[in-house]
Amino acid sequence: MDKSNLGKRKHHLIDTEFAARQLRKLGKEEMNYLQEVMNGETLSNYIAEESLTRRFEDAFARKTGTKKAMAKSSCMTGLAEAVSVSGAGPGYEIICDPIVHFGGLAALFFNAVPRFADIKRDTYNMDPDSLLANITPLTKAVIVTHLWGQSAEIDTIRDICKEHNLFLIEDCAHGIGTTWNGTHVGGFGDLGVFSFQEFKQLSTGDGGMTVTNNEELFDNMRGAWWFSGESPKFMYLNYRMNEMTAAVGLAQLEKVDEIIEGTYNQTLRILNEAIQDCEWLVTRTVPKEAHMSGYWWSCTWNGDKHGLSYEKFKQIEQELEIGLRFGFNFYPAQEFPIFRESTAYKTHPDCPVRCPLYTSKSNYRYTWGMTPVTEDLMQRFITVNLIFLSIPAAQEMADLIREAIRRMEQ
Ligand SMILES: Cc1ncc(COP(=O)(O)O)c(C=O)c1O
Repeated sequence: MDKSNLGKRKHHLIDTEFAARQLRKLGKEEMNYLQEVMNGETLSNYIAEESLTRRFEDAFARKTGTKKAMAKSSCMTGLAEAVSVSGAGPGYEIICDPIVHFGGLAALFFNAVPRFADIKRDTYNMDPDSLLANITPLTKAVIVTHLWGQSAEIDTIRDICKEHNLFLIEDCAHGIGTTWNGTHVGGFGDLGVFSFQEFKQLSTGDGGMTVTNNEELFDNMRGAWWFSGESPKFMYLNYRMNEMTAAVGLAQLEKVDEIIEGTYNQTLRILNEAIQDCEWLVTRTVPKEAHMSGYWWSCTWNGDKHGLSYEKFKQIEQELEIGLRFGFNFYPAQEFPIFRESTAYKTHPDCPVRCPLYTSKSNYRYTWGMTPVTEDLMQRFITVNLIFLSIPAAQEMADLIREAIRRMEQ
């Protein structure tokens, strides 16, 4: 498969430097908070009672309508911590999406077996029916991704988890500003985890935030790494955020609505409009309950169903230098060797699917065909990372997409 387009970043319409300075509006607000840190007593949120990190956490909890927020070094470390407190570990299963591998990796980190539920063809988010079909007596938790700023059917998924007594973790890496029925994602489940890595709507370079409405759970987690002389309550390492990162995060949080609505949702709309009359490029369905937060623009190639050649479309895209990315990741997570070939634990290559503690009778194995919709869609996706796209660049890109469609249809 041709991966030459994957991760393509040097493009005349996609300008990473411009995005960091202009689209994210990095400026005096960030500098003012950073100055406060420099003038203060500590660089670590660990020591200070009053800190930029506490302020960032409180503001983030208010933004997401949750009771508590805890700043992390990344989303991935927050997901791993969430798995740890879920009680899942060797011998248990965690149901994840296959479209990204982060949930599966967090499960593997604690030697739990990731089971992959399929996604829906129109929304690209976890299919609640497939989630139900994957629940077994060994299932302990679910990690659901709100992919590319669009909420999964989170109320249905929450109800399924409640009924089956499963710990629900929301992967909100792309979810700031994303709501379902007017409620911000993150607080539907037991824990929600956000990412502030460079390619996200709110960036601190690296960083993350865990939110919850369960105050007892929060207190346990917060206490786990306070230097109190007590034993940690669960398996976890030290993945805190520092004060400088929180300073940038707090300033960015105050601007994030303007950044999302003023730029990313505009560029999303501009690109959607470019294909609205095209029968063979299909826009992503946004359910009426979902308010999307622009992050990645995506559509599905259906040209083969209209007698059109994908190779020809790719060639036209190259000629026009549009900057589209074909085939997101190409493979579902279960195709990655770390899952399929159980390479996570080198000295125990069978962990965790053939672990003696894993008593499943189902002989669960990662095989092609287990998530047919994801497998098909991943090769059909055409995407653009909106984080690096200005409005004029999106307009230019939209014109080029229209031209490519015209050339395909002439
Ligand atoms: C869905 C999803 N979850 C988790 C992560 C990991 O985020 P981080 O880089 O903050 O660890 C990413 C990163 O892109 C992601 O896309």
